[in-house]
Amino acid sequence: MSVLPILKAGNPLLRQHAEPVDPSSIGSAEIRRLIDEMFETMAAARGQGLAAPQVGVLKRIIVVRLFSSTGDEDGPAEESYTDRVLINPQIKLLEEARQGSWEGCLSLPGLAGFVERPRKIRLSFLDEKGRPHDETVRGYEAVVYQHECDHLDGVLYIDRLADSRLFGFDEDLDTKALRALVSGR
Ligand code: NI
Repeated sequence: MSVLPILKAGNPLLRQHAEPVDPSSIGSAEIRRLIDEMFETMAAARGQGLAAPQVGVLKRIIVVRLFSSTGDEDGPAEESYTDRVLINPQIKLLEEARQGSWEGCLSLPGLAGFVERPRKIRLSFLDEKGRPHDETVRGYEAVVYQHECDHLDGVLYIDRLADSRLFGFDEDLDTKALRALVSGR
């Protein structure tokens, strides 16, 4: 296993459509190795999601690491997370209502942009064992899944900026000032 190089925006592979995975190949050594290496790569880059095209593999596979803060009276909040594999994911929009949030991407390091996306989706996919899942997702998780699924269709978050001014380098990003500027306040 090894950490794979992550392609950066500008590489045409990030703009291509990824092919569905043949369900009968899901348990194969090749697919298992790819998934393991995607997790290792995502963890090394401290990412919350990684799609196979970002490591140059045009297959419909994404891995996500969903963080949640847990804590109780016995101690301070401790960061915990859930790792998931989604193969051949499909998204159906359940609500027109949108939510906006600042997104980043391992293929655009050091940058962030404000994107508005549907806040409630139906997500269906196969997991790493080939088992089908069908679930309703909302909020932060819905953003992560939509961002990663976009990669499978050659779409980057910069294609979906709510306003091209709501974008910039993390180190200089003043999100409040930019939002105020754009809304004319
Ligand atoms: Ni991304």
